Amino acid sequence: MGRLDDKVAIVTGGGSGIGRGIAKMYASEGATVVVADINPEAQKVADEIAEKGGRALFELADVSASADAERVVKTTIARFGRLDILVNNAGIELTKSLLETQEEEWDKVVRINLRSVFLMSRFAADHFVHAGGGVIINMGSVTAKVGFLNYPAYTATKGAIHAFTRQMAMELAQYKIRVNVIFPGTIRTPLAIRNFLSTNPDLEAALAESAALHLTGRIGEPEDVAYLAVYLGSEESSFVTGQEFGVDGGFTIKGT
Ligand SMILES: NC(=O)c1ccc[n+]([C@@H]2O[C@H](COP(=O)([O-])OP(=O)(O)OC[C@H]3O[C@@H](n4cnc5c(N)ncnc54)[C@H](O)[C@@H]3O)[C@@H](O)[C@H]2O)c1
Repeated sequence: MGRLDDKVAIVTGGGSGIGRGIAKMYASEGATVVVADINPEAQKVADEIAEKGGRALFELADVSASADAERVVKTTIARFGRLDILVNNAGIELTKSLLETQEEEWDKVVRINLRSVFLMSRFAADHFVHAGGGVIINMGSVTAKVGFLNYPAYTATKGAIHAFTRQMAMELAQYKIRVNVIFPGTIRTPLAIRNFLSTNPDLEAALAESAALHLTGRIGEPEDVAYLAVYLGSEESSFVTGQEFGVDGGFTIKGT
């Protein structure tokens, strides 16, 4: 028996990193998973799930575009007859100071990180209201909790996602829709590796430096986040809504 048996979940950005980890763990817990990703390579995640006997569908989509976001939700329901969990995980980073950030760069980060959460949640919530309930899990960041240099656009979107989570939880509770946000510390993903390499060509040294910023003395793995996403997606968390959960190795409370 899986903890997510009979559930159908959409994982945006499910083709890589944290989203891939969540998609795979969801499937291993019995969920049917729709991997919605802008990168065609994400088909591989659906294939990996199917090879292990799970049920998954890849939908090529830019979830910051209204037509694509709507299609992902509609296709899921048409194909599997239901939708129970939406994981708003797709996101990009921009490592630039305020003084370096160009207007179009700002707009791109806001569109992909924040507009996508609005659109996907809006379309999924329409369905959840009629279906009698549902779960939304957003991917926030430690940058929404503590100061972080050189991520102004990214931080603005993540802070907004944390606030938007509370807003949605309040409005949607009457429809039995729960909304929570996870804020990961540094997680070993292609995004994090790209980021390390952009600031330090010595990847091992950069990883060690980052590990030291976490009380755990290590950075996280996608599975560390996926374990919490399973809990938040399951009935085990039916009394939990509007909350922020750190999977950050103690990063936000470390101090000096
Ligand atoms: N890795 C970390 O250390 C870390 C820390 C805190 C928060 N996060 C957050 O976790 C989430 C996942 O990050 P990751 O590290 O796994 O990144 P990643 O780059 O490995 O994966 C992100 C995935 O999102 C997809 N994507 C990007 N734009 C999209 C769009 N418009 N439509 C559909 N798919 C799109 C990409 O193709 C990719 O498959 C992001 O929201 C990120 O901000 C990551």
